Amino acid sequence: MAVNYREIDKSHVWHPLFQHQSLNDSDLTVFKSADGCIIVDDEGKEYLDAYSALWNVNVGYGRQEIVNAVYDQMKELPYYPHSQINVPATQLAEKLASVLPGDLNHVYFCNSGSEANETAIKIARQYGKLTYPDQNRYKIISRYQGYHGFTFGAMSATGQVVRRKAFEPLVPGFHHAHPPYCHRCPLGLEYPSCNVACVEEIERMIRAEGAETVIAVIAEPIIGGGGIIDPPDDYFPRLREICDDYGLLLILDEVITGFGRTGKMFACEHWDVQPDIMTMAKGLTSGYLPLGACVTSTEVFNTFLGSPEEKREFSQVCTYGGHPAACAAGVANLEILQTERLWENAEKVGKYLFDKLSTLKSMPIVSDVRGKGLMIAVELCEADGSRLKTKKTNKISGQLKENGLIVGKIGHAIEEDENILHIAPPLILSEVEADTIHDILRDVLLKQ
Ligand SMILES: Cc1ncc(COP(=O)(O)O)c(C=O)c1O
Repeated sequence: MAVNYREIDKSHVWHPLFQHQSLNDSDLTVFKSADGCIIVDDEGKEYLDAYSALWNVNVGYGRQEIVNAVYDQMKELPYYPHSQINVPATQLAEKLASVLPGDLNHVYFCNSGSEANETAIKIARQYGKLTYPDQNRYKIISRYQGYHGFTFGAMSATGQVVRRKAFEPLVPGFHHAHPPYCHRCPLGLEYPSCNVACVEEIERMIRAEGAETVIAVIAEPIIGGGGIIDPPDDYFPRLREICDDYGLLLILDEVITGFGRTGKMFACEHWDVQPDIMTMAKGLTSGYLPLGACVTSTEVFNTFLGSPEEKREFSQVCTYGGHPAACAAGVANLEILQTERLWENAEKVGKYLFDKLSTLKSMPIVSDVRGKGLMIAVELCEADGSRLKTKKTNKISGQLKENGLIVGKIGHAIEEDENILHIAPPLILSEVEADTIHDILRDVLLKQ
């Protein structure tokens, strides 16, 4: 008799962000296999995965090179802590330093995006104590709608209020500015006459808090889960300037945007802005194994140097940080990205898909299409232009899945109706597959 995995799952598994009572009315899908951009469920039904699983399978499914690299490494040395050297971690760190902008060249490995941001926050706080011993710099500014992870520090930086409420009070010292969400500007202004007031707000916050109490700003170059919010081109250059003026570290969270997603290897390259610290995960291994990293500039790294008696070293250990098998996956993944120049495909096919999806704006239910590369939002609205009701958006995403297309959507992020579809397919997407995404989406929207 076939094993009923749904029943076992229902009895024993607790899924993320999920109301288990709804399993009385509908089932979750059992996914069994995948290749390229296509995933297959236990009944053999195929879906075009236009969400790269969870924004992360950048090189696509079924990459034997990554499987082989992990297998070989597991046979040779499955694990040893990163208190000593292992070869794949060293190779991956060197490779990262060679592709990262500027002097981002010191890599601290961990297991996830949350841990990478947790690490960045702690590096920033310790850097504050070391660099400004006569001040009390610990505060960090982030943005509403931004997401940085589920651990307490990263969640405190997160600006998705719905995800935070149940766990408050959070870590002290985190302050949130409004995001550069031009389509529904939270400040009620319009670009460019606004003079990018949302970034100037960050400077005002620094002054109001007292610069001698603030150590960093953390931001996603393009807000991902909070609705794919890509800033005007002058936002990040100005933010860099503000951080420099007040002696703050700029932490860029490239967990989603890194490794080709937006049409550049890293999204900060769109504006020629180098952060002091960059965090990454997802596309670092394309999800084949868990791995995160926090990379700092030479200046940040050197701040932690000193004699043992001074105790300046970064005060954190992570058992599985730099795991040899995960790093071997990372090396093989990066080789694929570089050999196939997948960021270029993301730019080319992304533009093709963006242009096609933009034609949907002629439909009354689509209020905006935005994004960069293969990171595209389709924002839905009611007839009066207000946000489409959450229930209707959820229904549409369900219908897309029934029709063989998986997309993401904003969820558990904002108090208002959640009305934004996220399209972020693997970076190997072809134009034919882009047509399929457009056609299924158009047909489902036409029926609303
Ligand atoms: C921008 C960003 N940062 C951090 C995280 C947290 O990563 P993880 O889920 O691997 O902890 C995510 C996860 O989606 C993310 O989108």
